[in-house]
Amino acid sequence: MARAHPKKESYTWAIAKLETNELMGCISLILNRHSGAEMGYWLGAPYWNQGFMTEAARAVIDAGFSRLGLHRVVARHFVRNPASGHVMQKSSMTLIGTMRDSWLKAGVYESEIWYEILSDHSARTMDGS
Ligand SMILES: CC(C)(COP(=O)(O)OP(=O)(O)OC[C@H]1O[C@@H](n2cnc3c(N)ncnc32)[C@H](O)[C@@H]1OP(=O)(O)O)[C@@H](O)C(=O)NCCC(=O)NCCS
Repeated sequence: MARAHPKKESYTWAIAKLETNELMGCISLILNRHSGAEMGYWLGAPYWNQGFMTEAARAVIDAGFSRLGLHRVVARHFVRNPASGHVMQKSSMTLIGTMRDSWLKAGVYESEIWYEILSDHSARTMDGS
C-alpha cells in the first residue's frame, strides 16, 4: 500500500570517522509529495575510492524505504563524474537516462545522468507497466 511521505522535506546525514568523529562528507534525501526523494552526496577528496559513499548510499536508500516509507529514490550525476554513477550502480539503482544540457554554469551547459530505485527494487518498463 502507498504511504504518504513524512512531514519533513529533507534529511541530511553526516558521514564521520568512527575514531575521531571528523566530518568526511554528507548525504541527503530531498523528499517530494509523491513518496519519492532525490539523493545527493559529497565526500572529501582524501576519502575517495574506499567504498565509503557506496556504503552510505546503500544505508540511506534502505532507510528511505524502511523508515521513511518512500517508494522511489532518484539520483543524478554529471557526465564528467563517472565515479558518482558507479556509486549509484553499486547501490542497485537503475539507469533512467541522460538529461542533456540540463545544467548551465558560467555559460557552459552540462548533461546529467539519472538513476532510480523503487522500494520493491523492480525494474519497470519506461511506460510504467
Ligand atoms: C563521487 C563520490 C561521492 C564517490 O564517493 P566514493 O566514496 O569515492 O565512492 P566509492 O568508493 O563508494 O565508489 C566509487 C567507485 O567509482 C570508481 N571510480 C573512481 N573514479 C572513476 C572514474 N573516473 N570512472 C569510473 N569509475 C570510477 C571507483 O573505482 C569505485 O568503484 P569500485 O569500488 O568498483 O572500485 C566522491 O568522489 C565525491 O564526493 N566527489 C565530489 C563531489 C561529487 O561528485 N558529488 C556527487 C555529485 S553527483
